Amino acid sequence: MKDDASRRTDTLTRIAEVLGPMYGSERLAPFLYAHLRMRAPRTVVELGTGVGVSSFWMAKALEDNGHGHLWTIDSFDALRDPVELRALRDLLGACGLTDVVGADAPALLREVAERLGLSSRMSIIPSRLNLDQDGHFARYDFSSKTLDFVFSDFLHGPDHIERILGHFLPRMSDAAAILIDSVASEVASYLAVERFVADLNSGRTPPSLSRGWLPGDHDAVSARTYRLLHLRDQTGGPQRTTTWIDIEPRRPWPSDAALGDHLPR
Ligand SMILES: C[S@@+](CC[C@H](N)C(=O)[O-])C[C@H]1O[C@@H](n2cnc3c(N)ncnc32)[C@H](O)[C@@H]1O
Repeated sequence: MKDDASRRTDTLTRIAEVLGPMYGSERLAPFLYAHLRMRAPRTVVELGTGVGVSSFWMAKALEDNGHGHLWTIDSFDALRDPVELRALRDLLGACGLTDVVGADAPALLREVAERLGLSSRMSIIPSRLNLDQDGHFARYDFSSKTLDFVFSDFLHGPDHIERILGHFLPRMSDAAAILIDSVASEVASYLAVERFVADLNSGRTPPSLSRGWLPGDHDAVSARTYRLLHLRDQTGGPQRTTTWIDIEPRRPWPSDAALGDHLPR
């Protein structure tokens, strides 16, 4: 007989297999799990919950780490239609969750979190994100916190990237990462993020990025190194890219690398 923990793990695996293909996160979600297990973040924000695949896998990593919280935001517009909501309930049934009854998407996903034993690790926040509104993010519980990990999976045009980085960069901790989905799937977005990161690393803060920053924000952002990598799920279509900006204090080598015996003399 399987115990509760292995039944929950089976359900999570089924969620990736059954729901993952809806937004192409069936392989990304386990990657995020492993990534957060290794990074051990305390504060994680996700923009774009979708049907919760990446959210549940990230929250599971926090649960297995024994610390950390995920705030995940979505308008859930696509799931307001009762037909779509019923379809989601049916798919959850195919994952072994045959008796979830939530009357709307947030209620349904909170029920799933409960069944997976992840309720205390995640907050599902129904809200329409508005990147054009000054101070939009002040309304969220995480607004006063320093963030360790941000996964943005909702809009990925060059202007969106500019606003997402403009808001989050000064709020990131010293050992953090920002992942943005689908950036390398469009040339203009790819070029924009490459340029932002090159500018940041050469000590220039693009003015478009730093609108509204305080002097301390400039200091914090310029005291760091930004490493950029475009992950590509080569098994999927062109949309399957995730851009990873890793953030560390500005030093010529990784913070925890030992000096060792191999430096040239
Ligand atoms: C690609 S899906 C997220 C997939 C999810 N991360 C996963 O792995 O299953 C994008 C989500 O962003 C949401 N979204 C798009 N624009 C939004 C906005 N302005 N505010 C809030 N949510 C938005 C959509 O409702 C959709 O659920």
